Amino acid sequence: MLKRLFGRGSRSAAPRDTDADWEEIGRSNPYFGVLTDPRFKTENLNDEARAAFFASGEGDIGRASKVLKRRYSDFAPASALDFGCGVGRLTRALAAATGDAFGVDVSESMLAEARRSAPSGASFGCNLPDRTFDWIVSIIVFQHIPPERGYPLLKALMERLAPGGFITLQFALYRDPRHSSVPGGRIVMDQDFTLVSNVAALRDLAKGEMVMFDYDLTVITAILFAAGITDLELSHTDHGGFHGAFIHGRKAT
Ligand SMILES: C[S@@+](CC[C@H](N)C(=O)[O-])C[C@H]1O[C@@H](n2cnc3c(N)ncnc32)[C@H](O)[C@@H]1O
Repeated sequence: MLKRLFGRGSRSAAPRDTDADWEEIGRSNPYFGVLTDPRFKTENLNDEARAAFFASGEGDIGRASKVLKRRYSDFAPASALDFGCGVGRLTRALAAATGDAFGVDVSESMLAEARRSAPSGASFGCNLPDRTFDWIVSIIVFQHIPPERGYPLLKALMERLAPGGFITLQFALYRDPRHSSVPGGRIVMDQDFTLVSNVAALRDLAKGEMVMFDYDLTVITAILFAAGITDLELSHTDHGGFHGAFIHGRKAT
């Protein structure tokens, strides 16, 4: 079975400027680019929809806190880094939870929207700050970054985790064959766990298209272990046949 899984290998995806895609998405449809619900399209966005959008961030951070509190009774982070913060959906909730949250995003247009009504305790920038944080969070972000860029970014992120600090990370890992045509670097498996070869013609897509990349859990854990994050909890996510995982964990003190 292992030979079948790994024997055919997955070639890496053709290079694509996903940063330019996100700048475009941030300019035209920043909220819908984060959560693809018609209520969040720019033309439909009203106060009620905005409130629902940010409430979903509080829900996500509340659930992550619960998992970490259950596993680590002393979970009480005083700072948080939100990698790929978009318009600040999670950063706001992290600011409320810790009093000191920093959101990083590659898209200036997303950051401009995030700063527009940022609560106290939340700040934003396009570079990883040169300091450490008690909690590093990244949800629905790495799946949009080609893995060859994403792995070094993960390493750089983990270098900013304080001793004893916590992580909440989410990755796309593989998908059902019915999604084999969705553009991106794909790991497609059938029900016998046979790996289907998977390269998309990313260069031919229009700018502003959303692409999805699957990551290799072996590489992820190698990076985390090397950074001293050796206690991990994994939970399955399944978005209609797109399979992935939430990884919660803690760095040794
Ligand atoms: C689907 S949104 C998720 C936003 C936020 N994490 C949330 O859950 O509300 C993905 C975000 O990742 C950002 N992003 C994509 N590539 C990035 C990179 N290389 N570095 C930092 N942010 C990136 C995009 O600009 C976008 O704002």
